[in-house]
Amino acid sequence: MPRAYHRPCTDIAEFQRLLKHSDRVLALCGAGLSAASGLPTFRGAGGLWRNHQATSLATPEAFKKDPALVWLFYAWRRHMALQAKPNAGHYALAELAKHNKDFMCLTQNVDGLSQRAGHSPDMLRMLHGNIFDVKCFDKECDYIEPNNLSDPLCPALAPASERYPADQTMPLLDPTKPTPKIKREDLPHCPTCKAAGKTSLLRPGIVWFGEALDSDMLKEVDAWVAKPRGIDIMLVIGTAAAVYPAAGYTDAARKKGARIAVINPDRSAQKGLTSRDFYFEADAAEILPKLFEGIIGKPEIPGQAA
Ligand code: OAD
Repeated sequence: MPRAYHRPCTDIAEFQRLLKHSDRVLALCGAGLSAASGLPTFRGAGGLWRNHQATSLATPEAFKKDPALVWLFYAWRRHMALQAKPNAGHYALAELAKHNKDFMCLTQNVDGLSQRAGHSPDMLRMLHGNIFDVKCFDKECDYIEPNNLSDPLCPALAPASERYPADQTMPLLDPTKPTPKIKREDLPHCPTCKAAGKTSLLRPGIVWFGEALDSDMLKEVDAWVAKPRGIDIMLVIGTAAAVYPAAGYTDAARKKGARIAVINPDRSAQKGLTSRDFYFEADAAEILPKLFEGIIGKPEIPGQAA
């Protein structure tokens, strides 16, 4: 069979026509959606933080071993997310959620930018949690403080929130400089455990490698996917699709009849697509508004001229 037969479609107008006639749309978003907002992705360029692989810091074991280092990493990501603004891709998805009757957006991003773009919470599931939630590291304790936007979170983590001239590197990011020394007692502690005479640390309220996703949320998403009506389109936006269960939704949607549309500037992301599918080799912030234009028009983006 000729190779070209398997190539996914790259025609924007054809995608727009399909979307217009679609009732049930699923989206899976990853770090690439927030790349144009200046937030680094996890893998590939930008995946290193002070010579550490970002993914190697995202584990309970890393936190147990060096809670100050892991907190500095997440304090910096919190700071970056607070400084960042949602981009045109976030606004386009939020607008699509308003226009599409049955739309479900699964995001692996913990940065809160989709919410800040006005994405309806009913149509958005944060698979990996929210970086602004702070919870107790002790599994026996259910303390959680939702959406703590303090920056820095505590005085000891101030090096991750430093303001610095645009032409300079934040000292914390320079691996030739020593990591700020932070004593365990100066890291954020759980108030509930403290009252019980324990000294448990607080940690970011996100899902780390080796941890389970919220089971109620997964049940809800599975029920949405399983609906008899099937799924018309699944958008796979800015994700390396390397982390499960998130990455597994593409196959699940395909089984429900979905045509897959991958939006990713890295051509290797089109692996496994067929001629029924779509591939857009582009920055999500640039192409999503175009792909949805026939439905959402030209949404207004705060701070941007029309
Ligand atoms: P990755 O860093 O693995 O992948 C980001 C993807 O975005 C890559 O495929 C890039 O090619 C693509 N990309 C980069 N810039 C883009 C742009 N402007 N527009 C569109 N795409 C772009 O990030 P995720 O797939 O989100 O989990 O990673 C999944 C999970 O692994 C994260 O949620 C995190 C991480 O470890 C946890 O922390 C549990």
